[in-house]
Amino acid sequence: MDRNAPIGIFDSGMGGLSVWREVHRLLPNESIVYLADGKNCPYGDKDPAEIEALTDAAVQQLMRRGVKLIVIACNTATAVAIDSLRGRYPIEFVGLEPAVKPAALSTRSGTIAILATRASLEGGLFKATAAKYSDKVRILSAAGEGFVEAVEQGRESEPETLELVRASLEPMLAEGADRVVLGCTHYPFLLEAMQRVAGERDVEFIDPSQAVARRVEWLLERDNLRADRVGVGECEFVTFADDDYLRRIRQKAGVER
Ligand code: DGL
Repeated sequence: MDRNAPIGIFDSGMGGLSVWREVHRLLPNESIVYLADGKNCPYGDKDPAEIEALTDAAVQQLMRRGVKLIVIACNTATAVAIDSLRGRYPIEFVGLEPAVKPAALSTRSGTIAILATRASLEGGLFKATAAKYSDKVRILSAAGEGFVEAVEQGRESEPETLELVRASLEPMLAEGADRVVLGCTHYPFLLEAMQRVAGERDVEFIDPSQAVARRVEWLLERDNLRADRVGVGECEFVTFADDDYLRRIRQKAGVER
C-alpha cells in the first residue's frame, strides 16, 4: 500500500465535513477524498438494507480511487454497515458512533441526552453501548427531526431551524440532561442553535470528531501508512449529486467562496 495514498471519508451528505475538518487539521500532509452521497441524503429514515447498499456503493467508489483507509463519517451508515464492510474490504475502517461513554463518565446530573438519526438510535450498536451504561446513568434519546435537511440546505442560522432544534432538544434538557451527545455528523453544524436552546444551563455538547481524527492517526502510525510528503496534502470532494451540490460542499468546507 502506498503511504501517500489518500484517506477516504464518506457521509450521506455534508455532515461528515465536521470529521473531515478535524482529520485535515490533525494530519495536514495527508491527502483526502471526501465523498458525499448528496443524491440519497438523508439516510436516517431509510431502512437498513438500503443504507447498507448505498454505503457499499460509496465504499466501492472510494476503493477505485485507491484510498488507504476509510472513515465512515456517518453514524447511520456505521450502525448499519461497518461490520460487513470490515469483513469484505482489505483496508481499515473507522466508524462513528454516539459518544455515550464520555457523556456517561462526565455527567454531574446523572442524565445524558443522545441526539442521533432514527436509524442510529434503532441500530444494535447504539443499543449495546447504551445498555452498558444504563444502570449508571439515565439515557434519554431523540432523533433530530429536520436537522440533517437544515444543514444540507445551509439553513443553520434561520429562526425555523432554531425551533426545530428546540423541539428535539428542550424536552431532554428539561428532564435534567447536562451532557448532549451529537450522534450524527451533521449536528455539530447546529451547535450554535443548540447552545441558544441550552441558554444559561450548564450543558456540555459532545462531538467525537477530534477523537475520530486521533484514531485515524493512530491506525496509520500502527500500519506504517502515514504520508511522508512535505507540505499540505490534496483535498478532493466528490459526490453522487450534481455540480451545484459539489460547489456547496466546497463552500461549507471553506475551500471555495
Ligand atoms: N450524517 C449522518 C450521521 O452521522 C447521516 C445523516 C442522514 O443522512 O440522515 O448519522
